[in-house]
Amino acid sequence: MSAGVELDHVTVRFGHFTAVDNATLDIKGGEFFSFLGPSGCGKTTILRTVSGFLDPSEGSVRIGGQDMSGIGPNKRPTALIFQNLALFPLMTVADNITYGLRVRGVSRAERDRKAQELLDLIALPDQGKKLVSELSGGQNQRVAIARALAVQPKVLLLDEPLSALDLKLRQHMRNELRAIQKQVGITFIYITHDQGEALTMSDRIAVMSDGVIQQVADGKTVYDNPDTPFVASFVGENNPFIGKVSKADATGAVIETPFGPLRGRNPKNLKSGDKAILFVRPESFALGKGAPDATLTAETISSAFEGNATHVFLKGAAVKNITMTVGRHGGAKIPGPGDKATISYDPAMGVVLAEGKMARE
Ligand SMILES: Nc1ncnc2c1ncn2[C@@H]1O[C@H](COP(=O)(O)OP(=O)(O)OP(=O)(O)O)[C@@H](O)[C@H]1O
Ligand SMILES: [Mg+2]
Repeated sequence: MSAGVELDHVTVRFGHFTAVDNATLDIKGGEFFSFLGPSGCGKTTILRTVSGFLDPSEGSVRIGGQDMSGIGPNKRPTALIFQNLALFPLMTVADNITYGLRVRGVSRAERDRKAQELLDLIALPDQGKKLVSELSGGQNQRVAIARALAVQPKVLLLDEPLSALDLKLRQHMRNELRAIQKQVGITFIYITHDQGEALTMSDRIAVMSDGVIQQVADGKTVYDNPDTPFVASFVGENNPFIGKVSKADATGAVIETPFGPLRGRNPKNLKSGDKAILFVRPESFALGKGAPDATLTAETISSAFEGNATHVFLKGAAVKNITMTVGRHGGAKIPGPGDKATISYDPAMGVVLAEGKMARE
């Protein structure tokens, strides 16, 4: 059984500092929902507020439609997995998994049955009698998930659970976590500052910056149609061109940049004279001329071959770094250091947004 989680104008303050600023969200039952944002943006604070370890300064949290004010963490239908897992090293895997059931007075026989069911779920069917200190990092990760699921939460809260693992294992665990979530069907609320993790696993993502939710959407929308300069620059690589809108028409907007006029979509209906930023992703650039207001000339600084693609770094017109990613197909000749390169993009792949704060490099 799953439950939805609603944040209704939730603000959390620590003294004069606002860690979460007026967050309103509707997470659906059974959804895999992620909070994505840089360190210190308020992700853990939101999770602690949902789990009941922290009370909102303003607003309310509802789980399964029920207002949670005054309801303590152990009375909520949630379970929390911490970043450091907090397993008991001197207990067996099975005893770790069923610890919460023992605390609740569940019989040994029932605990053993439940332990086996969960060991099967996490694909460690024969490891119940081992100590957790005898397992690998990824295996311990799965034990922590099994332990959280043992108490049958309706909502599982995961605070950067993969951050301690190495890259390969992390990528493998993404798929495992997603598969486990599909199988148990409960709501997962997942915190990460890794955009790859958020994009691959989530049904929807909330992108946060400085306590403010910037955008809530599925991964593709967040990537292709960012709502703010912060989202455009935090999720994936992006090239910002700063300027003023000189023309706005049905197909988009043209902004005056150091490279001259450049065009993109205009989803926010900016008007002539507005300060704006045009974002063009590295993979949207190609070598060679395109439309006059979607072509620029820059000097090549260097390039980096990455197997399936080559990243070319350019500069010019007071813009220090433009990144272009060239795929292998097409066999384009990569310009060398110092070479002038003319590059262009499809104006439909550029997006013009009102000037605003971008993510730090
Ligand atoms: N108990 C507290 N007292 C005072 N300030 C706090 C407290 N807990 C968190 N903060 C502050 O609130 C802000 C948000 O913290 P939070 O732990 O939610 O960030 P986060 O997004 O989880 O970051 P990270 O990715 O580093 O874990 C930070 O600036 C932090 O210093
Ligand atoms: Mg945190």
